[in-house]
Amino acid sequence: MESRNGYRTIEVKPLSGVVGAEIFGADVASEVDDEQFSEIRDAFHAHGVIFFRDQDLTPEQHIAFARKWGDINVNRFFQPVDGYPLIAEVRKEPHHENNIGSGWHTDHSYDTVPALGSLLYARAVPETGGDTLFASMGAAFDALSEGMKNMLRGMSAVHSSRHVFGPGSYGADYAGRLGRQQAATQDAVHPVIIRHPDTGRECLYVNRDFTVRFDGWTGEESAPLLHFLYRHGARPEFTCRFRWRRGSLALWDNRATWHFAINDYPGQRRYMHRITIEGTPLGR
Ligand code: SIN
Repeated sequence: MESRNGYRTIEVKPLSGVVGAEIFGADVASEVDDEQFSEIRDAFHAHGVIFFRDQDLTPEQHIAFARKWGDINVNRFFQPVDGYPLIAEVRKEPHHENNIGSGWHTDHSYDTVPALGSLLYARAVPETGGDTLFASMGAAFDALSEGMKNMLRGMSAVHSSRHVFGPGSYGADYAGRLGRQQAATQDAVHPVIIRHPDTGRECLYVNRDFTVRFDGWTGEESAPLLHFLYRHGARPEFTCRFRWRRGSLALWDNRATWHFAINDYPGQRRYMHRITIEGTPLGR
């Protein structure tokens, strides 16, 4: 096949100047050969989050594609899909008020070795609404002043799952969706600026949902700088917005992006299958 933007087996259409791209020409349900997989991985590293349209995936095919990226990391708080303990449900029924993931975050930053990324597959989507926003933490880092970059490079932050998934942290609306293994909450410390394990790019690695303070600082001391970084990371020029259709599949890089699931579809159903992939230790 003729080369398109340097890719031979796929077409890659960026969704914005800094983050997100749609991939065309790949059928992830079938055997993706080594050459095509290597091009998909290049696009993933170049854009932070990639999207495939009109994929017709069984849970087994979803699992098989996830395994090409690494071992599967089972989320211990989400309800699994019936008969498929490796797949987490991201579900909002018409009677639910709250969705899962409606705040800027990166999955599993509370783990000692945070996840590489997640593969989210749309099985039912609302007629309107339910989009997901993504933000590039490489672009957010690049736009900081040299003074701020240098200060943050020497700092670490504490991340926790206790206040989000621990006992008493959310109401009855989430019953049957979140809340498994509430005792399995934990804290972890990570550099505030990580060096991406695959691309070598420096990325901002704090997030509003799971970061609780800077290491060695009190929560009160940390709050003003953390809030600056949360506002900064969410600047529109670092983001893209993905409109889901049934059969859309997204793969985002938790080390390079934040994401935010918009809760703007009251009375409608949205039902997704999520598989999360194990990462590697994070360093500076
Ligand atoms: C998540 O935060 O994992 C869910 C994202 C989404 O539902 O769009």
